Amino acid sequence: MLQSTFWRSLFRTKPVEAYQNEAQQPTLRRALGRWSLVSLGIGAIIGGGIFTLTGVAAKLYAGPALALSFVIAGFACLLAAMAYAEFASIVPVEGSAYAYSYATVGEVVAWFIGWNLILEYMMGATTVAVAWSGYFDKLLHLMGLEMPYWLMNDPFTAARKARELGEWPPSFAFNLPGFFISWVVTSILLRGIKETASTNNLIVFIKVGAVLFVILAGSFFVKPENWKPFIPAPETDAAGNIHYGWPGIFTAATIVFFAYIGFDAVSTQAGEAIHPRRDVPFAIVASLLITTLLYIGVSVVLTGMVPYKELDERAPVASAFAGAGVGWATYLITFAAVAGLISVMLVMLLGQTRIFLAMAKDGLLPHGIFGFVHPRYKTPFRSTLLVGAIMSLTASFVPIVNVSELTSLGTLLAFTLVSLSVFILRLKRPDLERPYKVPLWPLVSLGGVLVNIFLMSQARKENLRAFAIWGAIGLLLYFLYSRRHSKLHSHTEP
Ligand code: ALA
Repeated sequence: MLQSTFWRSLFRTKPVEAYQNEAQQPTLRRALGRWSLVSLGIGAIIGGGIFTLTGVAAKLYAGPALALSFVIAGFACLLAAMAYAEFASIVPVEGSAYAYSYATVGEVVAWFIGWNLILEYMMGATTVAVAWSGYFDKLLHLMGLEMPYWLMNDPFTAARKARELGEWPPSFAFNLPGFFISWVVTSILLRGIKETASTNNLIVFIKVGAVLFVILAGSFFVKPENWKPFIPAPETDAAGNIHYGWPGIFTAATIVFFAYIGFDAVSTQAGEAIHPRRDVPFAIVASLLITTLLYIGVSVVLTGMVPYKELDERAPVASAFAGAGVGWATYLITFAAVAGLISVMLVMLLGQTRIFLAMAKDGLLPHGIFGFVHPRYKTPFRSTLLVGAIMSLTASFVPIVNVSELTSLGTLLAFTLVSLSVFILRLKRPDLERPYKVPLWPLVSLGGVLVNIFLMSQARKENLRAFAIWGAIGLLLYFLYSRRHSKLHSHTEP
């Protein structure tokens, strides 16, 4: 008996009606219209991915068929995006995947997904802060300014560079730009959602402009013979990995998946949207479709400009223009990346604090820190400060540039569970009003589950291990703190 009560308590769900009541009493400022939401989606999606990953993905795996990899990854994301859209139309609250699974699968799963969203949002933003520092360094270099490496890198990376240069490791090193940009982003977020949205709009204007420039200007340098053969014949390397052909196209799709991450962040803005049930679903799908078209355009042009085997692995887009004799495009692209990554961080941190707020409202996180909303700015003030502090210190002192695969894993798990939750909610509550419905049910929902599990299985073993350890720490915290502090906990439960 005791045992079954215990198990039942793990899978207790929060009624959809409770969420809908919460949405009637907003704690945050409802200031976001339809196009601000679309812009936030694009702000989170377009980042370093399109300017960097295209190189490795085309050169080593897809060849000129890179555009097909973007179509496949975009399609996998669309399956998840539709699931997010349906949920956002029923449960218009800031908790995103966390709240959706709390309403359907149960508390322990919701906690687990909330915990893994830290990998997507906070860890994602931190890796972007480190990447930003790299682009900033490059921009300074283009302007003829050199910064000492011990001010541009965490202590571990700085020590490695010192050894490479034959110097003694410096006694002190930290990533100053990473630290600085973390606090710039944090202070914009602290001021309020309106300030955040207008900063984001400006940045989106710059980066979409840069992507359109790449497509339009690049098309003048396309040589159609570079597209032949469009799908090169498969080759197997010494380690047994297949390059090119359809297997290569799929591998490239898992690589470029990172470039799409971010559209789901729109769902965390439901608490700040003016008409969340109508506009959030629209913005999730629209921002994804717009970026998919832009990404396909960049892939087609890039592989047409340079023979795929000659693409640069680190800065393929800028190098393609330099190779075409348009050297100044390097400035434009580097500047667009420096500006563009700021909005990725902005929306990721925005999403992180909103998910923490949702978890604090349910009692799973301490309310005094994560649930406190500033009376004037209407932002989760303490939580934003704390998240900003953790991000700035991690970006400054920890060599985390290689954890982007963990960010993808956390995201894929969320996509899987949201697709599954839509399926479960249709069975459990067919009566609910759904302003947006996933088409072709149950094909699309179950397809979303399978595709995302497949993409997770493609991750490298050491990352899957790290992911499992992260999950185990999360479960430990659940049993030590959250289960007993949950608002759904009754004191008769074990
Ligand atoms: N989609 C984001 C990027 O490409 C994370 O940087």
